Amino acid sequence: MREIIEELEKKRAAARLGGGQRRIDAQHEKGKLTARERIELLLDPDSFEEFDMFVEHDCADFGMDEQRIPGDGVVTGHGTINGRLVFVFSQDFTVFGGSLSAAHAGKICKIMDHAMRVGAPVIGISDSGGARIQEGIDSLAGYAEVFQRNVLASGVVPQISLVMGPCAGGAVYSPAMTDFIIMVEDSSYMFVTGPDVVKTVTHEQVTHEELGGALTHTTKSGIADLAFENDVEALAQTRRFVDFLPASNREAPPTRPTEDPADRAEESLDTLVPANPNQPYDMAELITKVVDEGDFFELAPDYAKNIIIGFGRMEGSTVGVVANQPMVLAGCLDIDSSRKAARFVRFCDCFNIPIVTFVDVPGFLPGTAQEYGGIIKHGAKLLFAYAEATVPKVTVITRKAYGGAYDVMSSKHLRGDVNYAWPTAEIAVMGPKGAVEIIFRADLGDAAKIEKRAEEYRDKFANPFIAGHRGFIDDVIMPRNTRRRICRALAMLDGKELENPWKKHANIPL
Ligand code: HXC
Repeated sequence: MREIIEELEKKRAAARLGGGQRRIDAQHEKGKLTARERIELLLDPDSFEEFDMFVEHDCADFGMDEQRIPGDGVVTGHGTINGRLVFVFSQDFTVFGGSLSAAHAGKICKIMDHAMRVGAPVIGISDSGGARIQEGIDSLAGYAEVFQRNVLASGVVPQISLVMGPCAGGAVYSPAMTDFIIMVEDSSYMFVTGPDVVKTVTHEQVTHEELGGALTHTTKSGIADLAFENDVEALAQTRRFVDFLPASNREAPPTRPTEDPADRAEESLDTLVPANPNQPYDMAELITKVVDEGDFFELAPDYAKNIIIGFGRMEGSTVGVVANQPMVLAGCLDIDSSRKAARFVRFCDCFNIPIVTFVDVPGFLPGTAQEYGGIIKHGAKLLFAYAEATVPKVTVITRKAYGGAYDVMSSKHLRGDVNYAWPTAEIAVMGPKGAVEIIFRADLGDAAKIEKRAEEYRDKFANPFIAGHRGFIDDVIMPRNTRRRICRALAMLDGKELENPWKKHANIPL
């Protein structure tokens, strides 16, 4: 018996060594952790239960029958983050460059199937040279098996991708179909075709980093939601992030006890909105002053900065926050911000997370770039997402809510449950200047007359009371009481039941 146990230990030790010390050292030299070190930092100490440590590939071509490494380039299993179950796979670049074989894919699929069955998030760590070239079509089949599960798991369990090394070619489509992508600066990249192919086809000279590094995807393409300086920071922040998320669509969002009183008044909010309607202010300040303990987990902070999205807690329960940011493009909605917020609203709705929306939006951004780029369809995504969402929706208009953008931003008409406005709110078809220039076009030559008309318009429409008369606004609230009013609204909505008509699925304007 002792020999058998020793043999087992030997096999385990070999598997733990992956591609060997030389390759582990090379991984460290690149500033990267190994697959197992990453899992260790991600999960609670001693919580990892590994599956399939002894799985090997079946390939005999190109000398592969003589190269078998237990585990086959991916470490899989389950564990806990702050006591809550998660499933994890972590590609091991030291074994065949983390490339995906049929056996490697089978391991990933196994934990995804478990996750869907028991209802727990999947966290995938990518660090791979892509399809295992020696396996050919079997590797492609393996990818497709993973893709299929990404789609089936979408909306059932949260899926988070940590891209911590190469992720290229068709392999990018697995992270792309997960809910969130987190990258690491300078050591990870994602692209469909690499710099060499780009050079051949388009004659563009571009580095790996420029083409698909963390900076590119968090600022230009919006593909990645977050990027961190190194593996350790990315893993620590992922732990913090998972705390906000429900384990599956069958669960309410998690709660965490808080000392922050639900009725905490925040007097500084009374002076947040400047007297001049064209002067910006920082919407992020409002969010951090309203959520529990100022703890706001912002997503995509460097992409489409004219809209803020992220998670906070109110009275201990997770909420999704969407807010126009008047500091950038005056808070206008454009293509990128509409897409960014729409996907977030849909995530919240999938996973029973109430949505709190702060509105200060002068409208959709005008211009040929926007129209040619398809703002009609992209703006419709956000409208569609809000209209489709059945989770509790609480909206606070702080200042401008003009035109179509008023409708879009979780208005009463899109089944907003509780809609509040600050006294500074201006709810109208458009701003005073634009309005009088259209309806009093004949007076355009007379500046004094136009100014008088604009003032009349401002007096009549640039306030929340007409919407209040109609019941489109449930109340005009004191800014300092925003936290208390939202907490009460969410508490009232706790038992909300609302279903959309039966359908196979909707056809969101893609
Ligand atoms: C098998 C691979 C591999 C692969 C890397 N390796 N990629 N083995 N299949 N796809 C092996 C190398 O042979 C090497 O083995 C080890 O991994 C480390 O690779 P290096 O090249 O030494 O590392 P590095 O210099 O850091 O470069 C990393 C890399 C490069 C940029 C990822 O390896 C590379 O370009 N790989 C090929 C990428 C690729 O074209 N993949 C196929 C894409 S098509 P040893 O034994 O020396 O340590 C695709 C289709 C997916 O993925 C479709 C899904 C639908």
